[in-house]
Amino acid sequence: MKKILAVLLCAMMLLSCTAALAEKVGVAMPTKDLQRWNQDGANMEAMLKEAGYEVDLQYANNDVNTQLTQVQTMVDNDCDVIVIAAIEGSSLGSALESAKAKNIPVIAYDRLLMDSDAVSYYATFDNYKVGTVQGEFVRDALDLDNAEGPFNIEFTAGDPGDNNAGFFFNGAMDVLKPYIESGKLVVPSGQTEFEQVATPTWKTDVAQARAEDILASNYADGTELDAWLCSNDSTALGVTNALEANYVGKWPIITGQDCDIQNTKNMIAGKQAMSVFKDTRTLAAQVVKMVGQILKGEEVEVNDTETYNNNVIVVPSFLCAPVFANADNYQELLVDSGYYTADQLAD
Ligand code: BGC
Repeated sequence: MKKILAVLLCAMMLLSCTAALAEKVGVAMPTKDLQRWNQDGANMEAMLKEAGYEVDLQYANNDVNTQLTQVQTMVDNDCDVIVIAAIEGSSLGSALESAKAKNIPVIAYDRLLMDSDAVSYYATFDNYKVGTVQGEFVRDALDLDNAEGPFNIEFTAGDPGDNNAGFFFNGAMDVLKPYIESGKLVVPSGQTEFEQVATPTWKTDVAQARAEDILASNYADGTELDAWLCSNDSTALGVTNALEANYVGKWPIITGQDCDIQNTKNMIAGKQAMSVFKDTRTLAAQVVKMVGQILKGEEVEVNDTETYNNNVIVVPSFLCAPVFANADNYQELLVDSGYYTADQLAD
């Protein structure tokens, strides 16, 4: 009996030791307001747990100070690796410094962490490519190389505090600018600079308010709009709402990114022409792989060591591939792959 008890005791001690030894990964996400971050967080948590890590997943309600406190707490609690999707790329400096002082590796998730040398790696989608996919779609849909035109277009970009936003906008503009310069594309609002077309915090209602102003000032006289280049789905939704309520002309081409549920429904309904699918499962899997490689002291897989300069260092990055999505391929991309159920996309 004594022997059995002793064996049991040993087994229990061993178990609690293993549990205590589980490495801890902090995951800081920006907000639950936008669908994609819920998916990112859920995927990361599930995959990290599956790989045997303890996970501290936090959302910061898009509040920079909340995120700063959350990351600092992850450092204070001795997380072994911290993964951060920043609300504002350059606002986490002090917490990043303390992570560095404790030798805690930090991975920037989807959005680059700026102005700091305390960032070990960056995993994202090819952000510039997202923009070129959107720009090329508009170019081809309007057949800008052959059609006579001119065509009217407006632009809506993302949050100036998010390093990705400039990459998306520049990618699209690099494709479309020559047509603006040649006069084939006309921007009736005259707003073509990133600062003019940006949407602080990427909010739908902010994008909607600006779109309403533009429609009132430039299209109320019956001027037709051919395309509205939106950098992502939350802003595309604002533009779509504004058009539905304030514009009666021919329905324009609207671009987006993320394949959010409402936007996918809008694609099926013919209101949004395309989106860019960034499978959050792919990104999460890549980051979990990175975490494992870091903690095992292995070489960390990256595929870009040039593009992402955060003003202090060039951060070694892994860029996943974004995929064009529209009403023709959403079934295969989003439903057959298990990303959404058919029910989620039904009205
Ligand atoms: C992400 C986009 C997203 C946007 C708003 C960007 O950093 O890359 O996928 O639409 O933030 O949340």
